Amino acid sequence: LGQNICYRETVDSTQKVAHRLAQEGCEEGTLVIAEEQVGGRGRLNRAWHSPKTTGIWMSLVLRPQIPPHEAPQLTLLSAVAIVQAIEEITDIKVDIKWPNDILINGKKLVGILTEMQADADQIHSVIIGMGINVNQQEADFNDELSSIATSLSIEKGEKISRATLVQAILKRLEELYYQYLKAGFAPIKILWEAYAITIGRNIIARTLKGSIEGLAKGITPEGTLMLEDLEGKMHYIYSADIELSN
Ligand code: BTN
Repeated sequence: LGQNICYRETVDSTQKVAHRLAQEGCEEGTLVIAEEQVGGRGRLNRAWHSPKTTGIWMSLVLRPQIPPHEAPQLTLLSAVAIVQAIEEITDIKVDIKWPNDILINGKKLVGILTEMQADADQIHSVIIGMGINVNQQEADFNDELSSIATSLSIEKGEKISRATLVQAILKRLEELYYQYLKAGFAPIKILWEAYAITIGRNIIARTLKGSIEGLAKGITPEGTLMLEDLEGKMHYIYSADIELSN
């Protein structure tokens, strides 16, 4: 992965560029990486703050031959790869919040956005967008962001090489991805659960249909969150914002 790199100073969003390259038939593993995004996007159509040279803003094109409903597993796989790379390079302990947030002490360090182009039964491409706050300082975050976001440099107290981290992430992603294609999601699920702070906690899941409060019991073999509500009814959550309540 990452043999074919498309590097840009400034883009609207690396996701958009990656979607275009995928449609044009680029090879699997193509990586789009930019110094700055002026239209960076997060989940649920939120803006993703992507200032110049301080973060890693990148999107990877994959073409796995898996059923489309299993594609969310790649989000969890990517989270594991990034956590392992961060621990290897910085020694900082981080947590994963289902499905795709990587946090330090409750503050967001990494966001992952997985999007796919597929027919009912066949995937054309999966684009994994990764946004990692690396060298921002406190002053680089406005008031609203500084209460919810942090960077590796703020946590570590020193500058971190983005190039070294990108290499480590790609290496881990490659290992986990080929293991996944051969052995399925089960081994990845075990790794993911070891880093996840969501499981076994009382949470509030805010979905498009409303909020559900209860106990996060685990994830299914597909990567869906299992949430037992206060009446003991089980809900299967595909997409939500999660608040940890205690
Ligand atoms: C989230 O937590 O909401 C996901 C954030 C994903 C941000 C990354 S940065 C690289 C790629 N390009 C984008 O526009 N978004 C993703």
